[in-house]
Amino acid sequence: MKVLVMLLLSAVAPGCRANFSYSQPPKLLLVSFDGFRADYLQDYEFPHLQSFIKDGVLVEHVKNVFITKTFPNHYSIVTGLYEESHGIVANSMYDRVTKKHFSDADDKDPFWWNEAVPIWVTNELQENRSSAAAMWPGTDILIHNTTPSYFMNYNPSVSFEERLNNITTWLSYSNPPVTFATLYWEEPDASGHKYGPEDRDNMRRVLNEIDGLIGSLVQKLKLVGLWENINVIITSDHGMSQCSEKRLINLDHCLDPSSYSLIDLSPVAAILPKINKTEVYDRLKNCSPHMNVYLKEDIPNRFYYQHNDRIQPIIVVADEGWRIVLNKSSSKLGDHGYDNSLPSMHPFLAAHGPAFHRGYKHGTIDMVDIYPMMCHILGLPPRPHNGTFGRTKCLLADQWCINLPEAIGIVVGALLVLTTLTCLIVVMQNRLSAPHSFSRLQLQEDDDDPLIG
Ligand SMILES: *[C@@H]1O[C@H](CO)[C@@H](O)[C@H](O)[C@H]1NC(C)=O
Ligand SMILES: *[C@@H]1O[C@H](CO)[C@@H](O)[C@H](O)[C@H]1NC(C)=O
Ligand SMILES: *[C@@H]1O[C@H](CO)[C@@H](O)[C@H](O)[C@H]1NC(C)=O
Ligand SMILES: *[C@@H]1O[C@H](CO)[C@@H](O)[C@H](O)[C@H]1NC(C)=O
Ligand SMILES: *[C@@H]1O[C@H](CO)[C@@H](O)[C@H](O)[C@H]1NC(C)=O
Ligand SMILES: *[C@@H]1O[C@H](CO)[C@@H](O)[C@H](O)[C@H]1NC(C)=O
Ligand SMILES: [Zn+2]
Repeated sequence: MKVLVMLLLSAVAPGCRANFSYSQPPKLLLVSFDGFRADYLQDYEFPHLQSFIKDGVLVEHVKNVFITKTFPNHYSIVTGLYEESHGIVANSMYDRVTKKHFSDADDKDPFWWNEAVPIWVTNELQENRSSAAAMWPGTDILIHNTTPSYFMNYNPSVSFEERLNNITTWLSYSNPPVTFATLYWEEPDASGHKYGPEDRDNMRRVLNEIDGLIGSLVQKLKLVGLWENINVIITSDHGMSQCSEKRLINLDHCLDPSSYSLIDLSPVAAILPKINKTEVYDRLKNCSPHMNVYLKEDIPNRFYYQHNDRIQPIIVVADEGWRIVLNKSSSKLGDHGYDNSLPSMHPFLAAHGPAFHRGYKHGTIDMVDIYPMMCHILGLPPRPHNGTFGRTKCLLADQWCINLPEAIGIVVGALLVLTTLTCLIVVMQNRLSAPHSFSRLQLQEDDDDPLIG
């Protein structure tokens, strides 16, 4: 018996050691399909995405950050920070001190991005590791003097296929190896704005194409031999709400255009009053029942959207499905940016790879929880952030986690066992209450032998 154990140990140990020392650092590919609303997954068919999920994990709702816009949410995913802390507080911003403007078409000044350190910069600064990016917002900008080693300048006309081909080439052949990569795609956001999420025929067609892209992503990773070893996260920045020509709030009916500067419009208007803040606020307050008006100091705490100079003195938040416009009609049939507690604003998250469980479904996490999970997978030291690593433990193969029903089951089970034991002991004690003399058990000599002779 002893000999057999020794043989087993000597056979297994060197194998383990060999594979620990030669194993590659973990790789992670983070993919965003812009504007992929969480419940599209229930309402439409996604054969490729569903088979990705079947062998991986799904988080049905990711509670994103306010305001539920593209740039702010993509930066929260890669920093784990609320918007007030990472500084990208809208797709259109104005800084009163420097008089600088930011928009999605004019986003190149590092000034706007340097309030936080995205994960690709942290990864890039590690010895023997590099990062790669295909169009993720911010990846073509020198943030803290660093870009990913491999990136593309933002250009929406570059096809998904070219983005995918280049990112898999970088993941496969670079030295030092690319361990973190991002891939961004503009749909289904663009079509969601154009048709509205309730246009089932058009959305079915668009979402079917997205599923095809996910199929080609998996196929490509298999083709280059990365699929078994790479971790892939597929997620999004926000959902989409149905709008209508009948649900417009005309700001020109509320305010004299000369009394304020308009920094951002819809569905969260950012207002910089010119002379009299109180007057502008009072007028907005009495303008429409379909919006909430906040002085900056009164913005609800749950938005985590207050402590930053780039947040303007007054913000106006339209009700779901309402749009704020100037004195002209608007043709958008879908929009996002609304209150982040609305389920229609939430994206989902799916993940696959050696770091993740297989076939596990989870209800909800916060968008800021994704960052500490990614740092854990890559073995990177996380920067200060607003996420909670514990909330993603159940997704991860190397973490011990129990959910509430399991916990209740274990507690009830343990109580049953304890009760049974207690009863047995009481019964035994009663039976053995008469005095007895026990002979001491004799240990066999053999049992005292040291294990390794
Ligand atoms: C180490 O793992 C690889 C697969 O990752 C396997 O092909 C190889 O045989 C393993 N080596 C040893 C010595 O077990
Ligand atoms: C980085 O790579 C070099 C050369 O391959 C190696 O000598 C060094 O130990 C590596 N450093 C780390 C931290 O892995
Ligand atoms: C993708 O890679 C090809 C081949 O190296 C290159 O010609 C092309 O410019 C790259 N595309 C982008 C958008 O960087
Ligand atoms: C601002 O407007 C309010 C209400 O219209 C008025 O009571 C107040 O005196 C004005 N303040 C200044 C500084 O003009
Ligand atoms: C708004 O538009 C209407 C017609 O489209 C025009 O008559 C009106 O003067 C406009 N109001 C402002 C404040 O521009
Ligand atoms: C979010 O994290 C940043 C960085 O640690 C911190 O400064 C900020 O206070 C946090 N926000 C909240 C609401 O805890
Ligand atoms: Zn978006």
